[in-house]
Amino acid sequence: MFSDKDIAHFSKLETPFYYYDLNLLESTLKACKKAADTYKFHVHYAMKANFNPIVLKKIEAIGFGADCVSGGEVKKAIDVGFKRKKVVFAGVGKSDKEINDALDNDIFCFNVESVQELSVINELAEKKQKKAKVAIRINPNVDAHTHANITTGLDENKFGVNSWDMPACAAVLNISPNLEFIGIHFHIGSQITNMDVYKNLCVRVNEFATWFEDHGFKVTVLNVGGGLGIDYHNPDQQIPNFETYFKIFADFLEVKPYQEVHFELGRALVGQSASLISRVLYVKNGKKKNFIILDAGMTELMRPALYQAYHKIENLSQSKIVNAESESVRYDVVGPICESTDCFGKEVELQESFRNDLIAIRSTGAYGEVMASHYNLRETVQTVSSEDLN
Ligand code: LLP
Repeated sequence: MFSDKDIAHFSKLETPFYYYDLNLLESTLKACKKAADTYKFHVHYAMKANFNPIVLKKIEAIGFGADCVSGGEVKKAIDVGFKRKKVVFAGVGKSDKEINDALDNDIFCFNVESVQELSVINELAEKKQKKAKVAIRINPNVDAHTHANITTGLDENKFGVNSWDMPACAAVLNISPNLEFIGIHFHIGSQITNMDVYKNLCVRVNEFATWFEDHGFKVTVLNVGGGLGIDYHNPDQQIPNFETYFKIFADFLEVKPYQEVHFELGRALVGQSASLISRVLYVKNGKKKNFIILDAGMTELMRPALYQAYHKIENLSQSKIVNAESESVRYDVVGPICESTDCFGKEVELQESFRNDLIAIRSTGAYGEVMASHYNLRETVQTVSSEDLN
């Protein structure tokens, strides 16, 4: 929900831009921290969701670690101030350079995604006479019941080590003096709203932890990944229910006194804190369809084109004008890019809209700005924060 003051500010700015509500971000982070602290759970923020420095600084300040998925993210996390001992590095294709840089930085742990990667990290660590801490990312074959493109924990997905390869992992660990096994890691998908999925995950985590301990490996870290979804249909219902989420793990995970439980939340922490603010360039009323053409497109927000993702769209200029005359119209809300998939929503019911109206595309704090591109030689999308408006 935007105040009249926010809208008045937006109307003075050049569009498109991502608007970050830092107060909401802070409240979300505090709610998550409080709920996690109840069970002494540790959170590493999944940086891939949003690595804008204004966001990262808030997250670092609350005391969360960083879950990184490339050398670039590891570097950025450290530059922004995350403690090296709170940086984890996952990723199915870590290059030698990325591994070497992470070793030089003495990060907390590599989440290893294949048997071969274990040997490579051992070799590279040996050359540096270091011992690399590793957790095995296991593909538990648990269905996340989310969009197929953001499911990661099924046998057919490329992520993690499959269950039948655990003996091979154990064999490599046993002959690798430069690796220190610390635990197991899972991440089964994103935008998960069905909490039963996490119960199923807990069952698998318990099984794998037992398997490793039975084979002589002390499991000190149980990393259950991220995935908690947000309510895209109700962007004003802004803070996810972290209590319910963490309680599932507290109830269903078998945690030994020497074990830590780690989470890697991305979307749930940042998703609701941003909107993409854009202007209507043109309105085209056709026989079959009405279009509003925005100055933002799939180059600024890729999710609708890539996953047919829903984002609530609001006309900020017309939203306050409620009178008997104001009629709603169904529009296809599209961008300026030369692709038919450059569409934010079809048949979206909005107040009658006009050139220069301000349009907000809500819940775009996660996987929004970070997935922007320069296709069609578009300029880098700008960001504005609530602090800039004060
Ligand atoms: N940990 C690992 C290993 C991951 O791969 C991911 C996300 C996360 C944690 C954080 O997941 P989250 O809590 O944000 O669901 N671009 C897609 C989402 C891709 C998610 C990739 N991995 C989208 O826009 O929906």
